[in-house]
Amino acid sequence: MQLLWPTTPAEPVSDADLERLYGYPEGLTRSWVQVNFVSSADGAAAVDELSEGLSHPADKRIFLLGRLLSDVILVGAGTARAEGYRGARVSPERAARRVSLGLSEVPPIAVVTRSGELDPAGPLFTDTKVPPIVITTEKAPRGALERAGAEVLVAGVEDVDLHRALDLLGERGLRRVDCEGGPTLFADLIAADLVDQLCLTVAPLLAGAGESRIAHGRPAPEPRRMDLASALFEDGFTMLRYRRRESG
Ligand SMILES: NC(=O)c1ccc[n+]([C@@H]2O[C@H](COP(=O)([O-])OP(=O)(O)OC[C@H]3O[C@@H](n4cnc5c(N)ncnc54)[C@H](OP(=O)(O)O)[C@@H]3O)[C@@H](O)[C@H]2O)c1
Repeated sequence: MQLLWPTTPAEPVSDADLERLYGYPEGLTRSWVQVNFVSSADGAAAVDELSEGLSHPADKRIFLLGRLLSDVILVGAGTARAEGYRGARVSPERAARRVSLGLSEVPPIAVVTRSGELDPAGPLFTDTKVPPIVITTEKAPRGALERAGAEVLVAGVEDVDLHRALDLLGERGLRRVDCEGGPTLFADLIAADLVDQLCLTVAPLLAGAGESRIAHGRPAPEPRRMDLASALFEDGFTMLRYRRRESG
């Protein structure tokens, strides 16, 4: 056992340090899925149904790093609706950094939805520099979403098959996947054994009962062993990074 905190003051981590820590593996030949969450110390995924009440600038720094280093931002429709998702905003400096890393200037948002119930007049479609991607089912209505400019990918009949969804993204060169939740999509990714990394901020708050935990819904067939890959600390917030243990 090692003591992480309290400890003697260490040098602050730089943006370059963070890029090294949080960078995706080189030369990917398959999709690689990172999931980003903030949780209260008692396990809540939201306060008043939004994640904002749990967040902190240090958490936002990690959240934006996920966006900076990925090919695509994957999100469940519940989160896109609750948090009013729009296209990713990327400053000219960040766009230039992305291009220097071999990425597109702006990562598209890919929304997973069984129902297809997304507002074509909403900011996801109207306030974006790149077309959003909607990953849905054969049963979902898609005409209005396509007319609103989305690329619609069908990855299942009644349910989105997440393996198929990632294959479809991979065929478009979108392998570095940064999933921003929410809890239902995360549980489905865990159940499908598709999580390569979890970036988890633990906020020093007790939110109390009533809110979902960060994975909610479909049970996983068995627990997936992860390794703690890094732990950062700022102002009482702990930014943990867990990587999938390949050897079981
Ligand atoms: N603490 C955090 O870091 C964090 C992060 C993200 C979200 N949140 C919070 O989580 C709450 C939303 O929770 P949620 O569980 O509703 O979020 P969610 O997982 O984003 O959304 C669930 C919806 O996404 C679609 N979906 C997810 N997995 C699917 C699959 N395998 N196949 C087909 N469709 C799938 C379905 O959409 P349809 O209903 O359209 O079929 C489903 O109803 C909000 O309060 C939000 O603030 C917290």
